[in-house]
Amino acid sequence: SSIHQFLHELPKCEHHLHIEGSLSPNLLFRLASVNKVSLPDPSSDPSFESPEALTSRYERFTSLDDFLHYYFIGMSVLITASDFESLAYEYFARAHADGVQHAEVFFDPQAHTQRGIAYTTVVSGLTAAQKRAEKDFGITSKFILCFLRHLSATDAEVTYQEAVALGHFSDGTIAGIGLDSSEVGFPPEIFREIYASAKQAGIRRTAHAGEEGDASYVQRSLDICHTERIDHGIRLVEDEALVKRIAKDRTLITMCPLSNVRLRCVSKVADLPIRRFLDEGVRFSINSDDPAYFGGYILDNYCAVQEAFGLSIKEWKYIADGAIEGSWCDDERKKVLL
Ligand code: HPA
Ligand code: ZN
Repeated sequence: SSIHQFLHELPKCEHHLHIEGSLSPNLLFRLASVNKVSLPDPSSDPSFESPEALTSRYERFTSLDDFLHYYFIGMSVLITASDFESLAYEYFARAHADGVQHAEVFFDPQAHTQRGIAYTTVVSGLTAAQKRAEKDFGITSKFILCFLRHLSATDAEVTYQEAVALGHFSDGTIAGIGLDSSEVGFPPEIFREIYASAKQAGIRRTAHAGEEGDASYVQRSLDICHTERIDHGIRLVEDEALVKRIAKDRTLITMCPLSNVRLRCVSKVADLPIRRFLDEGVRFSINSDDPAYFGGYILDNYCAVQEAFGLSIKEWKYIADGAIEGSWCDDERKKVLL
């Protein structure tokens, strides 16, 4: 349809994409075989019988933690810098095909260093893909280093210091820090010192908050960790004053509609607070989160929002402009995108 064509052609920015979450079941099985990584025995979990069985298991996640179980097993097949490069290059190619012009990509270094893969292996693969994708597709990108909130603050600090020591924040290899994994019971203030140090050093800051956790997780991310952005943020609507404040400050909320449905944060896309955000002037972007796990890339998410809300061209332009303005690229790049 013409609105589909319009959404496809609309210049898009993606701000909430975990590169490890773009690992398809097919590639997962292929890399497990090539790298001789053993997957769980199908007799204990039949989902590991085949890529098809795994794909259908992904349609039945019961919660964030249920998804994370599969997400961490999946990424265990990534071993070499070339594995990370292929994974990221394929994501950039797919994003480009969906009309993404600029992508800000999360990665989870601790999930790799914990199983003996060097931080530098991960980063060299990702940056090789980034350069190749910019040359081949004109897509610009940034990397955001996420800390796993189910691990300790000390563990996060070790990872942070490794990136600092390599000069990765000052030379632009990594644009900012984020916080992901299990939310409830792991509040943002656990990581307050790292966030304070990042703020001091002029490093960009975001955090997943208000996905499964209540609005106080959003408020504490802003007040205690001084995040400039909120990832997911859907439960912030439970606090009216917070909605007003986020609208006033133009804090970007990076929403992930298909993810929220798959992880049962909402029962359908129409239950997301998109209308409320538009009416109250909250800036947000629409993103895919973990597209290989949640049944769609960014354009599928845009289309799902259109199906549920029937937005006007003017509203879509407002959303797309907000996504450009909320991006962490320089003003020159923003001018080209706007
Ligand atoms: N939430 C928390 N952690 C994650 C997610 C998410 O949506 N995706 C990948 N890690
Ligand atoms: Zn996420």
